[in-house]
Amino acid sequence: MWILGIDTSCDDTGVGLVKDGEVVVNLVASQVALHQAFGGVVPELASREHLRVIRPLAEKALAEAGIGPKDLSLVAATRGPGLIGALLVGYTFAKGLAWALRKPFYAIHHLEAHIAAAWPPGLNPPFLALVASGGHTHLFAVEALSRYRLLGATRDDAAGEAFDKVARLLGLGFPGGPEIERLAQEAREKVPFPVPLKDQKGYEFSFSGLKTKAVQLVEAGHPAPALARGFQEAAVEHLAQVVIRAAQDTGHRVLLVAGGVAANRALQARFREAGLTVYFPPRGLSQDNGAMVALAAWRRYQAGFPPSPLSLGATAYWPL
Ligand code: KG4
Ligand code: ZN
Repeated sequence: MWILGIDTSCDDTGVGLVKDGEVVVNLVASQVALHQAFGGVVPELASREHLRVIRPLAEKALAEAGIGPKDLSLVAATRGPGLIGALLVGYTFAKGLAWALRKPFYAIHHLEAHIAAAWPPGLNPPFLALVASGGHTHLFAVEALSRYRLLGATRDDAAGEAFDKVARLLGLGFPGGPEIERLAQEAREKVPFPVPLKDQKGYEFSFSGLKTKAVQLVEAGHPAPALARGFQEAAVEHLAQVVIRAAQDTGHRVLLVAGGVAANRALQARFREAGLTVYFPPRGLSQDNGAMVALAAWRRYQAGFPPSPLSLGATAYWPL
């Protein structure tokens, strides 16, 4: 059973093909170069670029899998949250394709897709899921597929956003996460950063203080590698402390870590020593992509969820 999944929630065009729950093709057309000159994602440019590449990218994905559109059993796309113009491109393309093929369509929540990317076959809820990306830092208790209890989220910047901002401050490229990680590895020493919200009772996150601290330390003339390492350690430690406390309080022993930041190896090492059973997305599935959308649709289909009506529109704001 072939599922086509599409994500155009932000600045990457993602088209993935999943066969019987296994990722076969996962193509991501990055718009990094397009937005670089502006220092951030320009929504209108993102929409136009999605529109330019979506059809050739979908055709390329089918060709790589050696199948045609008629071999698809269902089509899925991210409905939200995200940039509305960008979302509309992939979502409308997918609905049109499903309609033309007379195949079921599944509207997928972007965060459910991130979680699906890290969710190994055979694992049943309940478990904890941390989604840390450029737009989100959300900790959920997953009680069942489509039953998510939000335990805490960021008060200010998202984790990935903080990596991006600190990277920019250090004169590194975008996206900043991989750049910070690379520079931190080169560092022989570190400048310590305070771990945010150390004494809170809840499960909130905060990254804006780390960013302010980085500004002060750059002005004080500290070398970039030591700064990158200190920032990364504090950001990772903050994520780990909140999640470990949530695990202790709720009794959950299994944790999924998803979203772009989940690719960070220092983060993976820290969570692996947390005394929990931890799962990360396979390579290439932590950042925004289409395969994770197809995986989420596969789970919904398997669990007997009905397809989505084609009259359902995309939405920029959509709590999980
Ligand atoms: O999930 P994603 O591709 O897009 C959103 O939904 O936001 O996440 C992108 C974010 C960026 O902020 C990027 O800097 C961060 O994930 N990221 C990383 C790493 N790779 C990507 N952060 C830390 N370490 C990494 N290795
Ligand atoms: Zn994402």
